[in-house]
Amino acid sequence: MPAKLLKGAEVAKEIRAELKTEVQQLHEKHGAVPGLVTILVGENPASQSYVRAKQTTAHELGFYSVQDSQPADLAEEALLKLIDKYNKDPKIDGILVQLPLPKHINENRVLLAIDPGKDVDAFHPVNVGKLMIGEPDYLPCTPAGIQELLVRSGTQVSGAEVVVVGRSNIVGKPIAMMLMQKAPGANATVTVTHTRTKDVKAHCLSADILVVAAGVAEYVKGDWVKPGAVVIDVGVNEVGKTADGKRLLKGDVEFEGASQRASAITPVPGGVGPMTITMLMKNTVRACRVHNNLK
Ligand code: GUN
Repeated sequence: MPAKLLKGAEVAKEIRAELKTEVQQLHEKHGAVPGLVTILVGENPASQSYVRAKQTTAHELGFYSVQDSQPADLAEEALLKLIDKYNKDPKIDGILVQLPLPKHINENRVLLAIDPGKDVDAFHPVNVGKLMIGEPDYLPCTPAGIQELLVRSGTQVSGAEVVVVGRSNIVGKPIAMMLMQKAPGANATVTVTHTRTKDVKAHCLSADILVVAAGVAEYVKGDWVKPGAVVIDVGVNEVGKTADGKRLLKGDVEFEGASQRASAITPVPGGVGPMTITMLMKNTVRACRVHNNLK
């Protein structure tokens, strides 16, 4: 039987409706408006499209939102100064620096410059460390979106064998950390595979929940999926254009084959992607509450 589709786009819509009501109440009862700045350095088309989507969603939810686009040759010091300006700006609750940054800029230095209380991406080492010890203030957006999808779809995470393909700081490492925590929606046994893993297929075949963030189109083949597994495909790879000139996107999992074996699978697009943006909005609303001394 073909797999159930885990439609992140629909779940994200539900969560955004809840957030919109919360934003209205924050404004009416407390005069507070969540503020988000997205900083984009350079003109990477994929990054431009992600940042546009984040800005559009922030507007729809009634945020105060700022898009700060900077040239590709912006000096690192200038970017650090800009971040400092937003750290001090009381209208801004969340600061997002879109990654990747141009090669001449040290990404870690930049992430370290963001006030951890405004770090709605949860990439600052303080937030990474808090996640590791099981006391997060903010959860990183893509892993939080994945966990939310798993929980809302009724997937049994506790006790499950989870295999993560990919060890990035943005997805692989934090999702592994989150799903292994002693916490609701977690308590899984997690294995992380990567480019030096000897037999990725064998690991994948043991997974009750397979999370793939490899960054390679259709890296995981259909016959790597254990029958009945839940498959979360984080990949977004542009592999060409559709007949009407739109971007043709493929995930990191060979969808046709995998969906014949899995019990549930995320589509690409419309799976994890919309959840990521929604979790960013959730973090920004939370930051606004904290900055206004609200629960
Ligand atoms: N680049 C790819 N994913 C992300 C993300 O979640 N946040 C930021 N800031 N940059 C990214």
